[in-house]
Amino acid sequence: MKKIIITSLVALTISLSSLSAYDLKSNMLLLNAELRDVQQGFISSDKQGVKEAIDKFAKHAEELLGNKDNFAKMLPKDKKNKAKEAVMSAQIIAHNVQIIRDAIDNKYGQSGQIRREESQRAYTYIEHACFRCHNIVRD
Ligand code: HEC
Repeated sequence: MKKIIITSLVALTISLSSLSAYDLKSNMLLLNAELRDVQQGFISSDKQGVKEAIDKFAKHAEELLGNKDNFAKMLPKDKKNKAKEAVMSAQIIAHNVQIIRDAIDNKYGQSGQIRREESQRAYTYIEHACFRCHNIVRD
């Protein structure tokens, strides 16, 4: 609970500031913390925890990565051409967030074990979207 409150405070602080390299760093740190909350939910098999954490994470990921021009503003001059990767990453993330939500809602009437496995796999694909872009921008 304490962690959720701290995360929200950081989110509030960040949403009040303008876009720059500083914002990229603080947004990424926050996104990382939010993804860790999702991971914690999976490790503890805490369905309600995953549900709450994935909503926060998904909203922030879409805001941060969903718009190419916004993301470009946060990148240093020599990296602006990598902004298109943000939109691609946002799509991969949104697709896998949907898989997790469908599993929680039992949209396809599958067993609990199958739903847990599918949503856990979707979680790793989200993590992979982070790694993928970092590999490109840090090259
Ligand atoms: C579209 C590209 C892109 C995606 C997707 C992306 N990042 Fe980043 N990330 C960056 C860039 C650019 C930086 C800043 C430069 C650097 O650290 O190389 C960064 C930096 C970071 C940092 C280091 C912040 C610091 O300076 O201490 C963390 C942590 C981080 N990202 C977490 C994540 C997580 C978690 C995800 C996935 C949910 C993610 N990133 C997805 C581009 C991306």
